[in-house]
Amino acid sequence: MTTTVYVPADASARSVGADAVAAALAARPGVTVIRNGSRGMMWLEPLVEVVTPQGRIAYGPVTVDDLPQLLAAGMLGGGTHALRHGVVESLPYYARQERLTFARVGLIDPTSVADYEAKGGGVGLRNALAMAPAEIVAAVLESGLRGRGGAAFPTGIKWKTVLDTPSSQKYVVCNADEGDSGTFSDRMLMEGDPFTLVEGMTIAGLAVGATQGYIYLRSEYPDAAAVLRRAIAVARDAGWLGDDILGSGRRFELELRMGAGSYVCGEETALLESLEGKRGQVRYRPPVPAKQGLFGRPTALNNVVTLASVTTVLAKGAAFYRDFGAGRSRGTLAFQLAGNLARGGLVERAFGVTLRELLYDYGGGSASGRPLRAVQVGGPLGAYIPERDFDLPLDYEAFAAKGAIVGHGGIVAFDDTVDMAQMARYAFEFCAIESCGKCTPCRIGATRGVEVLDRLLAREQPARQLAVLHDLCDTMEHASLCAMGGMTPYPVRSALQHFPGDFGLEQAAPGPSRRP
Ligand SMILES: Cc1cc2nc3c(=O)[nH]c(=O)nc-3n(C[C@H](O)[C@H](O)[C@H](O)COP(=O)(O)O)c2cc1C
Ligand code: SF4
Repeated sequence: MTTTVYVPADASARSVGADAVAAALAARPGVTVIRNGSRGMMWLEPLVEVVTPQGRIAYGPVTVDDLPQLLAAGMLGGGTHALRHGVVESLPYYARQERLTFARVGLIDPTSVADYEAKGGGVGLRNALAMAPAEIVAAVLESGLRGRGGAAFPTGIKWKTVLDTPSSQKYVVCNADEGDSGTFSDRMLMEGDPFTLVEGMTIAGLAVGATQGYIYLRSEYPDAAAVLRRAIAVARDAGWLGDDILGSGRRFELELRMGAGSYVCGEETALLESLEGKRGQVRYRPPVPAKQGLFGRPTALNNVVTLASVTTVLAKGAAFYRDFGAGRSRGTLAFQLAGNLARGGLVERAFGVTLRELLYDYGGGSASGRPLRAVQVGGPLGAYIPERDFDLPLDYEAFAAKGAIVGHGGIVAFDDTVDMAQMARYAFEFCAIESCGKCTPCRIGATRGVEVLDRLLAREQPARQLAVLHDLCDTMEHASLCAMGGMTPYPVRSALQHFPGDFGLEQAAPGPSRRP
């Protein structure tokens, strides 16, 4: 009799020794090791799960040095040990989630078609194959799904534009550049359940009339690249891709392309330039990519999680998906808890969950044991939110009303030792380094921002510096060509507004109006 053991091959688990644990277990007679994705409880990685008659019993974090003791305690039969956590689905961190898009991540062997189908994979695509393109688009529209990559634009409207734009060639492009601080959901999905992305992109192709798709992946994700390459090959062999998708006579091909490592290449038009082999600079708009995108052709360009979410919409129906959420923010989001938290990881919940629930009920408060002071939500261009606003529900409109963004759902927590003036300075510095250089407010403004802040912190004519700073933020916000320069003022202004003392100011300095 053999015992099946799951050891994640997710990059986060590998970074803390999962490969050595997997090798040690595989060397034991009677043990079959399956490398799965991560369940998203990063503080427990490497999280080893042993298949027993009582279910998959989890142990973690497991190091090679722990193994002799664990094995002596009967781990392979689900034995008791200090590192034993029981069945993953019963752990509060996991049980209280609403896993739709990430339902299979960590559960299955990522590139096994049989595993994928056994856990509900492929139902969305089969349904889509029986529908007319306009019906697929209508379902996505009705689901209320909005782009998960940052701008939260309704996916159905984007797809309808591509469908309604006549062209002999159209494309589907997946934005897998994932460069925001504290984000890893795209990576986790690609490494843990790549067929969901393949399926979502194929559905997108059927919906808009595209026969070719490209995944633009950040070069910092070699593990995701390896899994995707294998998944695309397996999917093609199984008839999921190619000239005759699942025997339907319909065609869709998929290729993986690697980025060279630039934050702004996540911006959709810069991404398209890069994909065309040019320097990754932002394009003037209009035309929008849905009308003239890759090689000037209509292109449905979406984030990894957006495309993956479409499989649930098509499998379970638009109404099922739309019934999750709050206000105009429908469905679920994979929140990524990072920074100074005791239990960092991935939490998929319907919109409407509060920051406080995520930070304390899931995240367990700070890792340092000190009070949490602020969080930055939505990446390096997101606003800083102070502790008194932690009851804010995660909902695009509720955040916009506070001058903040939900973005890709990355949440980075800071305790009371953080210097918010330095964080504001960092926002300008980051923008100066990553700016594509095409427009003056961002290219010059970010560098001037660092200088003005330095003078303010050195107490050189502070009132004057403050006035210049507000002017500069106003110019960047309203005159930049893309959100890179346009949103850099968000972290700067929120830090100034909520933490004036860190800038040597007595109270929040009133600044010019800002857009919501
Ligand atoms: C500077 C900058 C960086 C961005 N980086 C990403 C990224 O890494 N991944 C992503 O999906 N969207 C990113 N976006 C948003 C994309 O431009 C675009 O809105 C998104 O990929 C569209 O897909 P969605 O509608 O599915 O969200 C970025 C935008 C800006 C301005
Ligand atoms: S705002 Fe910055 S990144 Fe965007 S186009 Fe202008 S220079 Fe390029």
